[in-house]
Amino acid sequence: MENPIEEIKKRIDIIEFIGSFITLKKAGRNFKALCPFHQEKTPSFIVSPERQIWHCFGACSEGGDVIKFLMKWENITFFEAVKELAQKLGLRLSKLSFEDRVWRKKERFFTMNQLAADFFEYILHKSNYGKQALDYLKNRQINLPVIKKFSLGYAPQSWNSLLKFLKRKRYEEEEILENGLIIKDERGSFYDRFRGRLIFPIKDSRDNILGFSGRTLGDKEKEPKYINTPETPIYHKRETLFGINLAKEFIKKEKNAFVVEGEFDVISPYQHGFLNFVAIKGSALTREQLMVLKRYTERLTLALDADIAGEEAIKRGVEEAEKLEFEVRIVTFDYAKDPDEALKKDKNKFKKILQKPQPIYDFLINLTQKKYPEDDSFSKKKIGEEVAPIISRISNPIVQSYYIRKLAKILNVAETSVERLITQTKRQQKRSPSPFLLRAKEKMINRELLLEKYLLSLVFQDKDPRKISAMVFSIINPDDFSLISHQRLCQLFLDFIKKSPFEFNLSKFIPSLSGELQAVFDEIYLFASTEHEFSREKVNKLAYELKRLALKRKIKEILTTNEEIKGERKKKLSFLTNELKEVEKMIITL
Ligand code: CTP
Ligand code: MN
Repeated sequence: MENPIEEIKKRIDIIEFIGSFITLKKAGRNFKALCPFHQEKTPSFIVSPERQIWHCFGACSEGGDVIKFLMKWENITFFEAVKELAQKLGLRLSKLSFEDRVWRKKERFFTMNQLAADFFEYILHKSNYGKQALDYLKNRQINLPVIKKFSLGYAPQSWNSLLKFLKRKRYEEEEILENGLIIKDERGSFYDRFRGRLIFPIKDSRDNILGFSGRTLGDKEKEPKYINTPETPIYHKRETLFGINLAKEFIKKEKNAFVVEGEFDVISPYQHGFLNFVAIKGSALTREQLMVLKRYTERLTLALDADIAGEEAIKRGVEEAEKLEFEVRIVTFDYAKDPDEALKKDKNKFKKILQKPQPIYDFLINLTQKKYPEDDSFSKKKIGEEVAPIISRISNPIVQSYYIRKLAKILNVAETSVERLITQTKRQQKRSPSPFLLRAKEKMINRELLLEKYLLSLVFQDKDPRKISAMVFSIINPDDFSLISHQRLCQLFLDFIKKSPFEFNLSKFIPSLSGELQAVFDEIYLFASTEHEFSREKVNKLAYELKRLALKRKIKEILTTNEEIKGERKKKLSFLTNELKEVEKMIITL
């Protein structure tokens, strides 16, 4: 059989594949979309059916093939992505002849966690030590099938029983430590992290165990109620969602995910048939967690604890969700402290509340109103100030004007005043752009480089590259390009069409390039499909503009070197200056 990597690339169509994750729109010969790997308003993510590649021309400026896409989408290693795609195609994996060190380590840690989970489960169900924990679960009305479904376990009250168990399974102390299951004390000896606790394995969407959380069996203890695996090579708190492995299919089906805070707020609903719940474990909803959810749904319903300790945390989460174009709603239970308790107290009421979620904006507006209940100018001002930023971030104009009207009514002012307030807030937000935006801007500043890519892209993408290149290269020379790689690419291209004067074949040209230049070519090839200010201008005008910029750069280069300008250099300088004058004259007439 062939190399599975080649086989994958041959058999999976990139448009179909990426199109199953995000919406692709036709753009000339290519397809474009909003980049799924960073937030943006205009699409800079381009996919080419001919080249079977993708590239993001925005902030991430990355690209690649189907394998690379899956790696980024699921945040997995090359090996894992190949494994997944090969399985999909029914290819035999044993044929894979390469190894991946990162993956092997991850796999070893997953296996270690699986063994630990088996150990905890065994203690819970099969040993006397587990009795107390089983009683605890019974008290909380969790039944046996659900206990098993979530692979709950019990860590015995002992300093080293798991450590001993894992050592017998041939794991080294140092790697068990790195995986977060044991702790090293000052004297350098090791002991179990989880002791005398009910254990919840935390899994990713494909059932790998990333880490654990453990709950005390009492409530009034000095120790923290929950402890969790620390950050490890495989456990990243910001990315985990407790219950995602069981909930993902139902989230897809229901087109909605309920986001709760705690483990029991997932487990109890599950037992009662509410299957699309995941927990963020008491912290704010992060971008990474949203990216995971985005694979299954565009709609979230927050079902947070009643204390709303974290209004700011909610706002931050909502802001992130808004950037990723989620529709966010919220349910609150005024008769219980969290979803678990609400369900136990009154299942019917619980169900009714789930069916009537409130749009998050209404909720945040109400919250602010409650904060400033007085009917005076100070309260109105405060409400306006706090609500305006929320409304200003709404990307859908219809939704936004609905909330502008709503805020105007609450403040008892004209809609235009609210609109002005929103514009003001937007301007303030712009004045302090995030470092992330700044970096993206810096990249965009070099107009000459952009023009180079754009022009070359137009040439390569043209139906008749020979004809258009004859025109473009009557105005500019390969050495006018500022990047050596562009110069080389251009020279090779011109040589290539000289050799085969009657037809130009992309699929023959590309293999003639070195691997490095192929990457440069791929990026350039897709470039004209991005949105650019010059997309409406004529090709010859663009060529002249590029010529002008190149001449200016060359003149500047001569003028800024320390050597005295004489002889050859003087001649060259006057030649370039004259040429620049001609070009500028040309540009005016176009
Ligand atoms: N949590 C944590 N560490 C703590 C306390 C809480 O990781 N020391 C996480 C747990 O995932 C917990 C969630 O935050 O489920 C919410 O905390 P809290 O509301 O205090 O607990 P409950 O979810 O109500 O826990 P339980 O029902 O088990 O009492
Ligand atoms: Mn609870």
